[in-house]
Amino acid sequence: MKIAVCVSGGGTNLQAIIDKINSGEIHNTEIAVVISNNKNAFALERAAKAGIEGVCISPKDFADRESFNKAFLEKLDSYNVDLVVLAGFLVVIPPEMIRNYRNRIINIHPSLIPSFCGTGYYGLKVHEGVLSRGVKVTGATCHFVDEGTDTGPIILQKAVEVKEDDTPEVLQRRVMEQAEWEIMPRAIDLIARGCVTVESGKVRIEE
Ligand code: GAR
Repeated sequence: MKIAVCVSGGGTNLQAIIDKINSGEIHNTEIAVVISNNKNAFALERAAKAGIEGVCISPKDFADRESFNKAFLEKLDSYNVDLVVLAGFLVVIPPEMIRNYRNRIINIHPSLIPSFCGTGYYGLKVHEGVLSRGVKVTGATCHFVDEGTDTGPIILQKAVEVKEDDTPEVLQRRVMEQAEWEIMPRAIDLIARGCVTVESGKVRIEE
C-alpha cells in the first residue's frame, strides 16, 4: 500500500508511522510522500532523515484558496497513493479531494469523538477544552474523513486518563504517547491488510 502523509507541525505521529513501518508492525506499506502546508514544519526534517520525499505546498504562495486546493490536489494525485494519512494536518480538506478519495483519507484527532471535536478543536485547544470541562477520561480517535469536521466513520479509539494536575501540554503528551502513536499506525496496518470496511457510515474490522 502506498500512502501520503500530510503534516503541519512537529510530526510525532509521522515518526510513529515511520518507526512502525521499519519495525514491521505496519505491514506492506510505503510512505510515497510527506506533504506539509508549512515549510518550517519539523515533520519535513523527520521525512528527510528517513529518506522520504517531502514537499511543501503553502496557501501563502497562492492568490486564493481555490488555487491552493487545486495545486495541492494535483500534487497529491501525482503520487497515485492508496491512502492519505492526515497526521496533524491543520488544513480544511477540499470537498473535491474528499469525493475523489472517499474512504481513503484517515485522520487522527486527540479526543474521544464526538467529544471535543469539530470546528475550533485542534491541537492544544482540544486538551484545554477537556481540562476546563473537567472530564476524567479523554483519548484519541482515528477516523475516515468525510465532508464534515471530525464526523467520518470511526476506525479506532483509545481512552486515556485525565489527572488532577494536568496542564494542556502534559495531557497532550500523554494522549499522544498512550493513544495517538498506537492507534494511527494500527489503523494503517489494518487497512493495508484489507481488514477494514465501511458500511452505512460505520467501520467493520475483520482480522
Ligand atoms: C496531534 O495531537 C494530532 O492529534 C492533532 O495535532 C497534533 C499533531 O502532532 N490533530 C488535530 O488536532 C486535528 N484536529 P504531531 O505533528 O506531533 O503529529
